[in-house]
Amino acid sequence: MEKLVISGPTPLRGDVHINGAKNAAVAILPATLLIDGVCTIDNLPNISDVKISCEILERLGAKITWNTPNEITIDTRNIVTTKAPLDLTSKFRASYYILGSMLGRKGEIEVGMPGGCKLGARPIDQHIKGFELLGANVSVEKGTIHAKAKKLVGTSIYMDIVSVGATINVMLASVLAEGTTIIDNAAKEPHIVDVANFLNTMGADIRGAGTDMIKINGVKKLHGETSYSVVPDQIEAGTFMLAAVATRGDLWIRNCITKHLESITAKIMEVGGNVEDEGDSIHVWCKKRPNKANIKTLPYPGFPTDLQPQMGVVLSLANGSSIINESIWDSRFQYTEELNKMGAKITAQGKSAFFEGVDKLYGAPVYSTDLRAGAALIVAGTAAHGITEVYNLEHIDRGYENIEEKFRKIGANIKRISE
Ligand code: EPZ
Repeated sequence: MEKLVISGPTPLRGDVHINGAKNAAVAILPATLLIDGVCTIDNLPNISDVKISCEILERLGAKITWNTPNEITIDTRNIVTTKAPLDLTSKFRASYYILGSMLGRKGEIEVGMPGGCKLGARPIDQHIKGFELLGANVSVEKGTIHAKAKKLVGTSIYMDIVSVGATINVMLASVLAEGTTIIDNAAKEPHIVDVANFLNTMGADIRGAGTDMIKINGVKKLHGETSYSVVPDQIEAGTFMLAAVATRGDLWIRNCITKHLESITAKIMEVGGNVEDEGDSIHVWCKKRPNKANIKTLPYPGFPTDLQPQMGVVLSLANGSSIINESIWDSRFQYTEELNKMGAKITAQGKSAFFEGVDKLYGAPVYSTDLRAGAALIVAGTAAHGITEVYNLEHIDRGYENIEEKFRKIGANIKRISE
């Protein structure tokens, strides 16, 4: 078993380079199944979710060459099976994108129910509704989803819920469908735009990604022979922005798209932090104890649920009391119990949590309950007095490349230890 040992408090200072977005990468990789050719993808984060995505593609018949730790060339000309490996697809959430891609490419796919962070109920009814409206038969039996279509035909699909995964999955299934598909009430996250940009680079005709109505004109074929660079990770950038505030540090966050960070910037300024952007960098610093603030998580461009736990660390140290309302997931406050072990005073009930700000956090052994909770605990450990031990690192390694190395470079006293 591995743990991270952090000795704090340390104000984080210096430059941090942001990798490509996990949630874009794990959709773009299965999207390559729609291409009858070879393409190169760079700025891929070197994280376990990406490695598992690549293994799934290889088991389906793709040939992958790692050119560097962040760039692959992938040949999807010879897809040999329509059964996705259950042992791998159950390991993470985004394995559901195999459904849309393989329906588009082969008209059939069998895949296990996806795994991923336990954040409460994670239904996929909107994905299935979209596939069925396009003409597929979908059945779910004994934890396996089987989707099959003689032909996919474009249609209008209204999403009952704003869903990142369903929007991308239906977009994937529509790219090679006959005619035009309209996705209404679509999600607008930056990674949706990135997947659409990737597909368009490969020959698709997708318009309106980033708005709530996406129009996909079906094309006959996607070509390869092109390279694509994954968008910078909005959530990794936001994690370091909030780490600068929680530790009263001064960070330059490099290689990010500052437009994607507006809701985070606004909240940081509300709590008394400073933010300035310059090209593809953002400078965040904070010299005093943060002020209280209330947060409600929302789909993009609202405050992202994937930064809620990291913001929770800031508010646990704020001067005054704050409330967070989590509107996306039923169970995203598990990290508050861990923060309370470190001296925070948080009462979580259902989808709300009340934060009575404390002056200091103190090191303690803590357990990451999911990916972003783990990142929040590292931020808390860096801000806290004494030694913090963070366990369950497999969650964190799914989504952050070299996290302890990045924290060490900006001054954190952090090391990974195998027990
Ligand atoms: C994506 O999950 C992200 N994962 C999550 O990031 C993120 O928290 C979430 O979007 C919201 O931004 C990936 O991109 C791989 P949704 P996804 O479908 O697509 C309900 C992280 O830490 N819903 O937008 O699974 C659902 O229950 C992860 O990086 C339905 O009811 O989320 C939720 O309440 C964790 N039916 C809401 O919609 C459906 O068919 C939004 O979920 C689909 C979703």
